[in-house]
Amino acid sequence: MNQDQLKQMVGEAARDEVLKLPAGQILGVGTGSTANCFIDALAPYKSHFAGTVSSSNATTERLLKHGFKVLDPNDVQGLPAYVDGADEIDPAGHMIKGGGGALTREKIIASMAKQFICICDSSKQVPVLGNFALPVEIIPLAKGVVSRELEKLGGKVSLRLAKNTRADLHQTPSEPFVTDNGGWILDIAGLQIANPLQMEAQINQIAGVITVGLFAKEKANILLVSNASGVERLAL
Ligand code: A5P
Repeated sequence: MNQDQLKQMVGEAARDEVLKLPAGQILGVGTGSTANCFIDALAPYKSHFAGTVSSSNATTERLLKHGFKVLDPNDVQGLPAYVDGADEIDPAGHMIKGGGGALTREKIIASMAKQFICICDSSKQVPVLGNFALPVEIIPLAKGVVSRELEKLGGKVSLRLAKNTRADLHQTPSEPFVTDNGGWILDIAGLQIANPLQMEAQINQIAGVITVGLFAKEKANILLVSNASGVERLAL
């Protein structure tokens, strides 16, 4: 079974999970290739939800294409659940997110939700976070000062560059990757994150940081994880 099939399988499991929620509520929807599988699987059942709130422009576009209603988070009081992927998840449900650059809106929408339902394949499960470089979204003019502060954590800090040309933002691969919020991303490689809650709080305090892609306060409550033998559901 290849990785795309594993993502599809867990996307379908997440669809079944959210369809257990009472009808007529609003659902938080994440970003990334696994979240895309979830959106596609849920599309035929979209009328179960009164609407969605989206964690990125890319997700909004996909939701609208399927005919979901997408609401402004400011018009929503709370969400029963937020469904999203992860770049890494530890046994307690702490995650590294932001590989796709949507970490800030993801964390905002996650904070509005009663439950974070994390969906991934088993390659994302790790005993200790940090093998995946930790993304930090920053205000561009603070790149120098924030990089120097982050280097004190012991990892190697690099500015994320645009992988593909984004015509809408006039970005080319040699330029900084620009987030939906106009921020830049610093990736910290080589960390061993023994205490995710403490590191999240520490990085949050650096002036110029918008969001750190450590989801420890907003950790996963339910993990749906796929491997060759099926999808496992873990309450964390
Ligand atoms: C987006 O910024 C990320 O947080 C994604 O949720 C994460 O990178 C997982 O993406 P995939 O499902 O594409 O692996």
